[in-house]
Amino acid sequence: MGKKLFIKTYGCQMNVYDSARMADLLTPLGYGITEDQADADMVILNTCHIREKASEKTFSELGRLRAQRHERQQSGRDTIIAVAGCVAQAEGAEIMRRIPDIDIVLGPQTYHRLPEMVARATRAREEKLGRSGKPFRGANLLDTEFPAESKFDHLPEAAAPQGVTAFLAIQEGCDKFCTFCVVPYTRGAEFSRPVQQITAEARRLVDQGAREITLLGQNVNAFHGEGPAGGSWNLARLVRHLADALPDLRRIRYTTSHPRDMDDDLIRAHGELPQLMPFLHLPVQSGSDRILAEMNRQHDADHFRRIIERLRKARPDIALSSDFIIGFPGETDADHRATVKLIEEIGFAQSFSFKYSARPGTPAAVLERQVPESVMDGRLQEIQALLERQLTEFNRATIGRRVPVLIEKPGRHPGQMIGKSPWLQPVHALLPAGTIGREVEIEITELKHYSLGGQPTGLQPAAGFAAEPQPERAIA
Ligand code: 5AD
Ligand code: SF4
Repeated sequence: MGKKLFIKTYGCQMNVYDSARMADLLTPLGYGITEDQADADMVILNTCHIREKASEKTFSELGRLRAQRHERQQSGRDTIIAVAGCVAQAEGAEIMRRIPDIDIVLGPQTYHRLPEMVARATRAREEKLGRSGKPFRGANLLDTEFPAESKFDHLPEAAAPQGVTAFLAIQEGCDKFCTFCVVPYTRGAEFSRPVQQITAEARRLVDQGAREITLLGQNVNAFHGEGPAGGSWNLARLVRHLADALPDLRRIRYTTSHPRDMDDDLIRAHGELPQLMPFLHLPVQSGSDRILAEMNRQHDADHFRRIIERLRKARPDIALSSDFIIGFPGETDADHRATVKLIEEIGFAQSFSFKYSARPGTPAAVLERQVPESVMDGRLQEIQALLERQLTEFNRATIGRRVPVLIEKPGRHPGQMIGKSPWLQPVHALLPAGTIGREVEIEITELKHYSLGGQPTGLQPAAGFAAEPQPERAIA
């Protein structure tokens, strides 16, 4: 009988991608995915270290998992427990010390070695269980190296169809060293995959039914992968190539970008390629030049403004999303007002704002003048309320318009389908099941929570439609 694998994914879309690849890697060992953690023979926590809160979740979840393992052992079933991702990378030794019954700890750069580690952990557990007749504490295998070989060279073809929308990692790591950020330490140096490898993976995804691909990277527009005939390609060239080579690929997105790497070519591509969706997630973090300098962002607020101006010129309907860090050390009221002003000027379709979290080992963590929690709370509330208003305004402006919606899956109500607008808004409408994977023109008629409802313009809607959308939120 096959074994069951449960993967819990925290954090960014790169982790979502990595989790899917880990599942692919374990398929040959007989592991199939289960949604039921209590029934799993192996549990992987794919963790996030970006903020303290995200990181803490790992340890509390591990506590729950160990209790669950104990329960399963009462009925003669064993569970392998693995921690992957950025907490594993940053705190591997600490995890081993605090959780002696852990089996596997592996960083994001070594997950291609997971099958070997699982085989070793299985043997170790079986041997010890057999010998003592008592529950064995843990296989204690740790691999947080940054190996010379690329994990992407070792990936098997994706085992399961990926759906209408898919992620494709094209770049990993970061050399920007923003002073608040752990990514350059947990994910390592900037690395871009070769164009041929990316194209082959994109082709497989499209053959399996993907119509939208989001190109992923921690610093995706720093992409400089090796071209098929040598030389390095930038992101714009890669996007043009994919749009050209894959006629069934209707939509291309990319995330996450850095303002320093928004080159002319990429801005031009937004104006020229219909497949490149008019939505860009471009983190700015702060509107204050002083804070941006302290953060080592290597640009000022006006640089960001100019990029947006040029993007809007190239693609007038482009919608923008961003990340903001509230309460970076030394942030004054004037700095905060500069951020509010920038948000008001630009007008975002959606955004993410976070209280600054001091991460051990990063330069900002030892800065004096850390902002008191209560001050951060007040500023965060103000900014989140402003961003929420902008989100609602943006969604409301879609009402009455006809928009192409890529249909992804059935909704909660009979006959209802859910898809996304070009601007990442969830849209629901009554449509036949055969529309999954197609772009359907929908006239937007209503806004509920975070999603839009509408009627297809070319198809006859079924009778008796009770419009009640899922409160689903688009992710950037
Ligand atoms: N504290 C708060 N937010 C952070 N981010 C990254 N590091 C930190 C930190 N130490 C945010 C940034 C980044 C997003 C992915 O997470 O806004 O763009
Ligand atoms: Fe972190 Fe992004 Fe800065 Fe790189 S560019 S250090 S990933 S915030």
